[in-house]
Amino acid sequence: MERTLIILKPDAVQRQLIGSIITRFEQKGLKIAACRFMRISRELAERHYAVHKGKPFYERLLRYITSGPVLVLVLQAAGVIAMSRKLMGATFGCDAEPGTIRGDFGGSKGFNLVHGSDSVESADYEIPLYFTENELVNYELANEHWLYGEEE
Ligand code: RTP
Ligand code: MG
Repeated sequence: MERTLIILKPDAVQRQLIGSIITRFEQKGLKIAACRFMRISRELAERHYAVHKGKPFYERLLRYITSGPVLVLVLQAAGVIAMSRKLMGATFGCDAEPGTIRGDFGGSKGFNLVHGSDSVESADYEIPLYFTENELVNYELANEHWLYGEEE
């Protein structure tokens, strides 16, 4: 089953939007496989954002993601990467459509509330930075048939 790494970034925590944002993912039926409230170290941020090293916004991005506590989650469902990216919306709230997390909760061109892996390869790289395989909880939701099923 496909997995993605989601981070509720320091602005989401400071603005007390954790519940509102997680509700969006829950309402979509995406299953939580792991969750940790933590502060990301500079070293971990460098590993997470290695792909952006050298870009003009790299140092700003590291300062932002390490500036306060974050909530890190692994979500699991068929197609979870594309679904969660759609729920999040365009990179910054000023461009994101209403109805998306970034579009509904912010208009900043710098702070954007949430991170989500952008591909299976990214998820496979990012998830082990935060969780061991043992920490990914495997279980069934009681209503999985209705959430993920197709009419026969
Ligand atoms: P994310 O990785 O956080 O889910 O966001 P994303 O895919 O939509 O954006 P990405 O291009 O991967 O950029 C990662 C993060 O870097 C910051 N950023 N700043 N031009 C800029 O100033 C700029 N571009 C990107 C954002 O925090 C973005 O989420
Ligand atoms: Mg990205």
